[in-house]
Amino acid sequence: MRAIVRGPAQPEIHSCRGTETVERGSATRRGRGAPGSALFGALRRHRRSTEVDGPRSAVAGNGNCGFPAQHASGSYRVPGDKSISHRALVLAALADGVSEIVGLAPGADVQSTARCLRALGITIDIEGNTTRVHGRGIAGLRAPTSPLDCGNSGTTMRMLSGVLAGAGIEATLIGDASLSRRPMERVARPLAQMGVQIETTNGHAPIRIRGRATRAITWESAPPSAQVKTCVLLAGLFCDGETHVHESLTTRDHTERLLPQFGVAATGARVRGPAQLHATRIEVPGDFSSAAFLLGAALATNVSGVSVTNVGINPTRTGLLDAFRALGVSFSQGDVSAISGEPTATVRCAPSTLRAANFQSALVARAIDEIPLLAVLCTFANGTSELRGAAELRVKESDRLALVARGLAAMGATVDELPDGLRITGGRALHGTTIDSGGDHRIAMSFAIAGLAAKGETIIDGAEWADISYPGFWTTLGEITRGAVRVDT
Ligand code: S3P
Repeated sequence: MRAIVRGPAQPEIHSCRGTETVERGSATRRGRGAPGSALFGALRRHRRSTEVDGPRSAVAGNGNCGFPAQHASGSYRVPGDKSISHRALVLAALADGVSEIVGLAPGADVQSTARCLRALGITIDIEGNTTRVHGRGIAGLRAPTSPLDCGNSGTTMRMLSGVLAGAGIEATLIGDASLSRRPMERVARPLAQMGVQIETTNGHAPIRIRGRATRAITWESAPPSAQVKTCVLLAGLFCDGETHVHESLTTRDHTERLLPQFGVAATGARVRGPAQLHATRIEVPGDFSSAAFLLGAALATNVSGVSVTNVGINPTRTGLLDAFRALGVSFSQGDVSAISGEPTATVRCAPSTLRAANFQSALVARAIDEIPLLAVLCTFANGTSELRGAAELRVKESDRLALVARGLAAMGATVDELPDGLRITGGRALHGTTIDSGGDHRIAMSFAIAGLAAKGETIIDGAEWADISYPGFWTTLGEITRGAVRVDT
């Protein structure tokens, strides 16, 4: 599937400072937006809005001065948080009784966790926005009859490794081509120390687990990884004594926040086993990592604001907001509340003039999935920005540093790929091109945001990968931008 993202309309006469904005959009000349088509309607609405907003859109601070900005506005909700959803499903499966999860993430990754849990004997029913998990207690999982397919989901594979090891369930974990390239020794090492027999395939999936983890351990998690931390803590639930994960940099703490919801005390990344979990009701906040793209759309277009309501703002996840501060993004947080141990808010981004900034490993750990988007935002900022301490991005669903560097360079950005990061000199107009998502949801969505600011059209090949974390992304982006996005199946 391809997504076509239209950048700012290109005027034939346009003044950056003046009050007059005269547009004769090139989109119509390229044969798109024929009268009667939805895109045509969107273009007309867009023109009306840029006429009203004329001078403001002309001085957009996104490096595209010279092109009236595309429009992005409105108030939106995003699907439930993917990380919290994986954990809620797994903990509910280990609890006694039926747990209800409201707002479970709909993406393919969370479905992989649900599929594996069903293969382990857990009944999961979905009714509207509520998912019921029929937990079988800490000792209730059944051995699967075939390999557990984790699809594209690293979180599924690493979390379930811990559960299977602790429960003493013999199983093989497999994944798709991308997941089979990702490092798995990082979970095999602590689990082996806890006493289970675990074999990777040259450090990768398939992973074979036999025997049982019985020894509580203290584990130094390096590189920082919430998936590894969760894997060890989940195995620790089954062991006698205290299991503790020490991390040099803070990573997302959703497991630590969810455990008490199931009646298990967790002080920081410490659990005491053997634990007993009780069924509960969990409400899942909107996924900050998905909201980031909608906020990014506001910055790419820079005409008016975008708000995302009911979004999780757990501080271990919101490194991007710190990055916003450093870049000079104008944003606000309102309606601050909390659900199921997680803080939530409405986050709003307003038009902003961005300045370059430098980002280091502590911020990267709290914005690990937002780094490709952050790199795109750096192309809108005047000056040279550096992102360092981000070598982990090379072992995500793709080598994200390489794909971001290659894609941004193809769009005309000045970018250097560093061993552990990127150096980006912003302020130069991007131009549309064809970007291959590389089978990576976050690459597909990040380049859609770049495309909104780029001259002409940006084609995202492999756009369907957005469904891994954000089904409906292309529709929502189309709505936000009043039709700047089209999808070809
Ligand atoms: C996740 C942790 C992060 C993140 C991933 C989800 C989690 O991975 O990139 O998308 O749910 O624990 P690492 O733990 O490998 O950094």
